[in-house]
Amino acid sequence: MTDKYTRKEFLKLSGAAVGAGIFSTSIAGSIANAQTSDLLHRTIHATGEMIPAVGLGTAQTFGDLSQDFMARRNTIETLFAEGGTVIDTAPTYSNAEIVVGRALDELNARDKCFLATKTSLRDGDKQDGIDQNTQSFIDLKTDKIDLLQVHNHRGTDVHLETINEWRAEGKVRYAGLTHSNPDLNDAAVTVIESGRLDFMQVQYNIFDRSVEERVLPAARDNGVAVMINLPFARGRVFQATAGKEIPEFAKDFGVDSWGKFFLKFVIGHPDVTVAIPGTIFPHHVVDNIGALKTRVPTEAERQRMVQFMEDL
Ligand SMILES: NC(=O)c1ccc[n+]([C@@H]2O[C@H](COP(=O)([O-])OP(=O)(O)OC[C@H]3O[C@@H](n4cnc5c(N)ncnc54)[C@H](OP(=O)(O)O)[C@@H]3O)[C@@H](O)[C@H]2O)c1
Repeated sequence: MTDKYTRKEFLKLSGAAVGAGIFSTSIAGSIANAQTSDLLHRTIHATGEMIPAVGLGTAQTFGDLSQDFMARRNTIETLFAEGGTVIDTAPTYSNAEIVVGRALDELNARDKCFLATKTSLRDGDKQDGIDQNTQSFIDLKTDKIDLLQVHNHRGTDVHLETINEWRAEGKVRYAGLTHSNPDLNDAAVTVIESGRLDFMQVQYNIFDRSVEERVLPAARDNGVAVMINLPFARGRVFQATAGKEIPEFAKDFGVDSWGKFFLKFVIGHPDVTVAIPGTIFPHHVVDNIGALKTRVPTEAERQRMVQFMEDL
């Protein structure tokens, strides 16, 4: 199941320290190997590997080839310069895989990157999945994908079978499943409990907290890491706070921008492994990774953040 520990052994060893999501002084941290970074890292339960708790999503306009490639490359370079590693993409995000692959190649940065992509088809034809994945390896210019996820529960059983076969062969490091539609939360719990996943990717933000109910506890109990999409509700959180002052209480845990406010709410949940805000701008990457430099809010502070938004 893992390089050094089975998932159950690892969970037993790391216990509450993993759930607490504290800085890398946890048992999990010492198992995984010491982190010198001052950024908040979280543990992938399946192996004990630690990753920075904020990465980069590429769904929106990242793959628009009519736009300036160097600007996209600069955004990725900034992610690494700031200490980030995680990039989430998909073969159906326009040409995002091509842009990411070319940027990683030109920056000679493949080894710095925790690269996540998807099997993104309408149905569960096994060969179509293999063909699409094969093209992803080509477009991403890599012979190993860190996390390969079934996109939006389409053909889950068939494609997860391929992903787990490739995982056994070493072409893929972790197996995952994604959705952003809360109606699929119960279906996600079923797959999480089936023991075939290392990662579950779901929507979680201060507006949509539905995964708190079943998905996050199931992931914790089954040793499945959680990747968060839409941490900014596709930008709606910023519309809600436009022209508003950041509340004083949030400054206690280092919030100096709305980006940090909303990301800290998300990564403040101890069962979240990594959030992947989408942006094409380097200064937003700096802001987003900056959320990892000061402590996360306590549960009471997170409740206060929710109340603040409800009172707007
Ligand atoms: N089913 C799935 O598997 C699924 C579904 C949805 C999303 N995803 C993944 O999740 C990622 C995130 O979702 P998303 O990109 O759609 O939405 P999002 O991360 O919730 O929001 C993106 C929006 O936030 C803005 N933004 C980012 N950082 C900011 C900052 N520091 N300050 C102010 N604005 C900021 C971006 O604008 P700028 O570009 O101007 O920065 C963009 O408009 C996707 O890129 C994709 O990788 C997966």
